[in-house]
Amino acid sequence: MSSVKENIVWHTHEVDKAYRAQLKNQRPAVLWFTGLSGAGKSTIAGALESRLAQLGYHTYLLDGDNVRHGLCGDLGFSEQDRRENIRRIGELAKLMADAGLIVLTAFISPHREERQQVRDLFPSDEFLEVYVNTQLSVCEQRDPKGLYKKARAGEISHFTGIDSVYEAPLAAEIDLPAGEASVTALVEQCLDHLHERGIIHLSKS
Ligand code: ADX
Repeated sequence: MSSVKENIVWHTHEVDKAYRAQLKNQRPAVLWFTGLSGAGKSTIAGALESRLAQLGYHTYLLDGDNVRHGLCGDLGFSEQDRRENIRRIGELAKLMADAGLIVLTAFISPHREERQQVRDLFPSDEFLEVYVNTQLSVCEQRDPKGLYKKARAGEISHFTGIDSVYEAPLAAEIDLPAGEASVTALVEQCLDHLHERGIIHLSKS
């Protein structure tokens, strides 16, 4: 039996990743934020994106809750659906990096294996895992959407950290103490790291 891919040939176009990145005068990158619900992923990624945009970089923020309204609107929170969610976002982030963008993603992405699979889609200097390292007790206390309360009451099942697993990164490029430091300080930590890696250029006086 022939697979579908057997009859599909990759088409290389003249305007390629390097060309698009050069037009934008930047190096494409993917900043993959991972952490528990309520850890601060969207808030920090959003604040970082604002700073990058102010500095003149071309960005796109893919946010879990938003993407689940559209592209991944057919997926729930079973292990299988979460894996498919992350697979799709990984492929989407790859296309966006190919467009020359600095991509920020904010998904719980609870499994190490899927995060590794996404990492494997990119050159090693292009993918950075950002661990939004906030203790479960802090996330639960914040409970910005009231979802922990519902999960504890048994109204939501498979809730990450309650009755569904979260596997913390073992070697994230950036580890953010997001239960303790301010958003501004955490964004500065990210910017400094991106500068050290040569992804952005900060001219500090
Ligand atoms: S992931 O596990 O597939 O990466 P994703 O980041 O897209 O999750 O979505 C998480 C968001 O969906 C949470 O911030 C929360 O608002 C909402 N949500 C609804 N049900 C659940 C659940 N069972 N577990 C975790 N988050 C949930």
